[in-house]
Amino acid sequence: MKLWGGRFEKATDKKVDDFNSSIRFDQRLYKEDITVSISHARMLGNQGIISVEDSLLIIKTLGEILSDIENGKVEFEIDAEDIHMNVEKILIERIGDVGKRLHTGRSRNDQVALDIRMYVKNEITEISAMIAELIKDLLSLAKENTRTIMPGYTHLQKAQPITFSHHVMAYVNMLIRDYDRLRDTYRRTDVMPLGSGALAGTTHPLDREAVAKELGFASVTTNSLDGVSDRDFAIELTSDLSILMMHLSRFSEELILWSSNEFRFVTMDDAYSTGSSIMPQKKNPDVAELIRGKTGRVYGSLMALLTVMKGIPLAYNKDMQEDKESLFDAIDTVKLCVPVFTGMVKTMKINKDTMLLGAKGGFTNATDVADYLVKKGVPFREAHAIVGRMVLAAEKANKALDDLTLAEMKDCSEFIEEDIYDAISMMACVEGRSLIGGPAESAVLQSIAVAEEFINNL
Ligand code: ARG
Repeated sequence: MKLWGGRFEKATDKKVDDFNSSIRFDQRLYKEDITVSISHARMLGNQGIISVEDSLLIIKTLGEILSDIENGKVEFEIDAEDIHMNVEKILIERIGDVGKRLHTGRSRNDQVALDIRMYVKNEITEISAMIAELIKDLLSLAKENTRTIMPGYTHLQKAQPITFSHHVMAYVNMLIRDYDRLRDTYRRTDVMPLGSGALAGTTHPLDREAVAKELGFASVTTNSLDGVSDRDFAIELTSDLSILMMHLSRFSEELILWSSNEFRFVTMDDAYSTGSSIMPQKKNPDVAELIRGKTGRVYGSLMALLTVMKGIPLAYNKDMQEDKESLFDAIDTVKLCVPVFTGMVKTMKINKDTMLLGAKGGFTNATDVADYLVKKGVPFREAHAIVGRMVLAAEKANKALDDLTLAEMKDCSEFIEEDIYDAISMMACVEGRSLIGGPAESAVLQSIAVAEEFINNL
């Protein structure tokens, strides 16, 4: 018979059992569920709601069930619906009537809310550590490449010279925000809902604060309806993870481009590339492509969660059982992607010469010629037009701007002197931009220092 079977005259249809059951996916919460129950049982005993003797037996047996699950000795049952009732059923099988006292003063509704919060807190900690590792590796890459010149792009057209270090630091900044967002989500997840009951709390004198303290929660929820029906933290986490994946996906997209024969800015390590079953010459950036592809999955989870929650009245509704698979999948996907992404960027070869060559093409120093003229007193808008004509002339002559002779340059503006060549070299273009946030070595080193301080203070 079902643990809730008292008011039923007929057994559940087999199809309904299968349909209703969440044990297939919520069994991963077994540890949280048992930890929560142990804490609840201890508190019931301490409050005199059940006897201390019963409380101790429940706690001891739950510990045994936990280790039996971990040693693969427990078979969960679809009939017992979910992880909460499977554990409770095993407990009752083992210690009979004493086990039946565990569920005093609580509901699966507040129980599951607490289980997921505990799970999410742990996962945030693990994912944050992975992000920190990635940041550290990117910082090493950035430090090694503060003078590695490459073209910066807008519209995927060459724009101005930057350094590879500067480019990498853009992603470090994104990842620091990702880390920070997770920290923020953690704070709002760290609130203990047990005691909300099914929806309206309980008449038993629970010590909610004691449970929160024992389970390492910063505070307790202050509205029982919200306590059981809030899944904001799951949505927030999935949203954080979506943004993180969006960043990894953008970087992946660049690495896919850069490892193409057209760019050749980077060479992926063999260990992070795959071949073709038909084309013998192929070496494909599958890892980067899969990360880009899996980003869609994580967005899908976010949409699924938002949609599950959008129309349900207070408080708990069974729709909310649908929160788990999306949440789990988003977490699993991110935990799969971040380490492999880290390995990929750590092992790839940076082709500095090709990057420099790339920076020299496409008139990336045109703005610097204009700035040169401005410094000689020409109004910027006029300088812009002059350099536009210079670019046209250079393009026709199939030359870079700094390959034009002084005479050819003077044809465009009499203000141009011999010192132009030093002013518009690739290194001068980069080094001239030494303001905060710029690509000059001194500025990038400053930005690296800020990021290192962030990492060192975690
Ligand atoms: N398996 C359920 C879930 O994940 C647990 C809560 C069920 N509560 C209920 N009253 N049916 O949401």
